[in-house]
Amino acid sequence: MSRVSGPAALLPPLLLLGLPALLPARPRYEPTWGSLDARPLPAWFDEAKFGVFIHWGVFSVPSFGSEWFWWYWQKEKREPYVKFMEANYPPGFRYEDFGPLFTAEFFDPNQWADILKASGAKYVVLTSKHHEGFTLWGSKYSWNWNAVDVGPKRDLVAELAASVRNRTDLHFGLYHSLFEWFNPLFLEDATNVFKTRKFPTSKSLPELYEIVTKYQPEIIWSDGNGNAPDTYWNSTGFLAWLYNDSPVRDTVVTNDRWGVGSICTHGGYYTCSDRYNPGHLLPHKWENCMTIDRRSWGYRRDAQLSDYLTIEDLVKQLVETVSCGGNLLMNIGPTHDGRIAVIFEERLRQMGAWLEVNGEAIYGTKPWRAQNDSVTPEVWYTFSPKEGTVNAVFLNWPVSGILELGEPQAKLGETQVKLAGYKELLKWVALGEKGLIIALPQLTPKQLPCQWGWTLQLTAIK
Ligand SMILES: *[C@@H]1O[C@H](CO)[C@@H](O)[C@H](O)[C@H]1NC(C)=O
Ligand SMILES: *[C@@H]1O[C@H](CO)[C@@H](O)[C@H](O)[C@H]1NC(C)=O
Ligand SMILES: *[C@@H]1O[C@H](CO)[C@@H](O)[C@H](O)[C@H]1NC(C)=O
Repeated sequence: MSRVSGPAALLPPLLLLGLPALLPARPRYEPTWGSLDARPLPAWFDEAKFGVFIHWGVFSVPSFGSEWFWWYWQKEKREPYVKFMEANYPPGFRYEDFGPLFTAEFFDPNQWADILKASGAKYVVLTSKHHEGFTLWGSKYSWNWNAVDVGPKRDLVAELAASVRNRTDLHFGLYHSLFEWFNPLFLEDATNVFKTRKFPTSKSLPELYEIVTKYQPEIIWSDGNGNAPDTYWNSTGFLAWLYNDSPVRDTVVTNDRWGVGSICTHGGYYTCSDRYNPGHLLPHKWENCMTIDRRSWGYRRDAQLSDYLTIEDLVKQLVETVSCGGNLLMNIGPTHDGRIAVIFEERLRQMGAWLEVNGEAIYGTKPWRAQNDSVTPEVWYTFSPKEGTVNAVFLNWPVSGILELGEPQAKLGETQVKLAGYKELLKWVALGEKGLIIALPQLTPKQLPCQWGWTLQLTAIK
């Protein structure tokens, strides 16, 4: 591997044997995509499978339409946004004036941490700064446009990080937008077709180094390239530092949004597009980042009940995603006053209740030979390597009580079929070469181990 460099690389092999202390402890990565892309993804991420995304910022104050509120109001001048402002705010009200109204008076980071834990998630990703440029921490580089100087007067990143680490085993991650909608330095660079680099050198990059050193996030979820190439952002320079020399170099995971053309191609795991869920196995680790409110990442007061995905929808997303080798990053948007609205809390706790019963089919699993069944729709497979179990998660309980699986090849006298959360083994018969028919137990709704989806655990599958 050409990535191993340093003094040890220059010594003849025999000398090396006597000098283990001089050997580099880890490969050093160069600031090139070739080198950075070859870094193995820290194992915890693939094992985790499920995380919660939190979009919170000044956009949570108008909480209308979308977290892209400024863009739709000021840039595109979309009618509903313009009318909303005219009807509800005095003339001349500016986006900056929302800052002091971002109050977070009900923000209890311990309560958030407890809800996150109850969801069964193994990681959380908070928007440290969205495209509006407002930092949720007291950044040295965001004077007067951050949560310590304006609004809550609290370091929201520090508080959530502390509570998550104190009370849960979740990995703590941070989202960070490279570009900012209306930062004059960014606009100047953009006018210069990114030949000048005032904005990344004075704002984005210093911020990235700052959040890593201050909060030691284990995920950097980068976003918002502003149509500029990764060379403008010096993404490879930052990532080489992150992987070689930062305090989180051994455990940190990154995504793929580091400049025009990097998405789905470079970086750590792939996100490809928002709500990406390809329905088939991918050779590279990926993540489906999606929202419980199907139309917005930030909280919006104009959402209808039907805009929120049901728990059945969410379990389906999780199961499809994990079967195909992905992780699910499920988004909630807290309110400007620091609450996780009860609809989000309910969905999170429901997911946790489902994972309590079916977690063995999710956490630490690998994709199986087949992702979904070839005979019965909405049956998704995963494989538990430690137990050697094939998990078939079925999303519809058949009226007949008989479930046919077309994919597994069972072994007579060896294969056992278990329903997760139910004691007795299930009866089954083989269907020729491949496939089996399983008799589900007759249970009342109250006797079912869970709702919304059930797991069959099959042993000794060829
Ligand atoms: C975290 O735990 C430490 C030690 O138990 C305590 O001093 C600190 O106040 C806790 N922080 C939070 C945010 O709960
Ligand atoms: C990019 O970042 C690296 C690492 O911090 C630094 O050594 C290099 O000078 C930077 N390059 C540019 C063009 O800013
Ligand atoms: C399996 O999943 C693929 C991709 O979502 C789909 O096209 C196919 O119809 C599914 N098979 C069954 C039997 O539902």
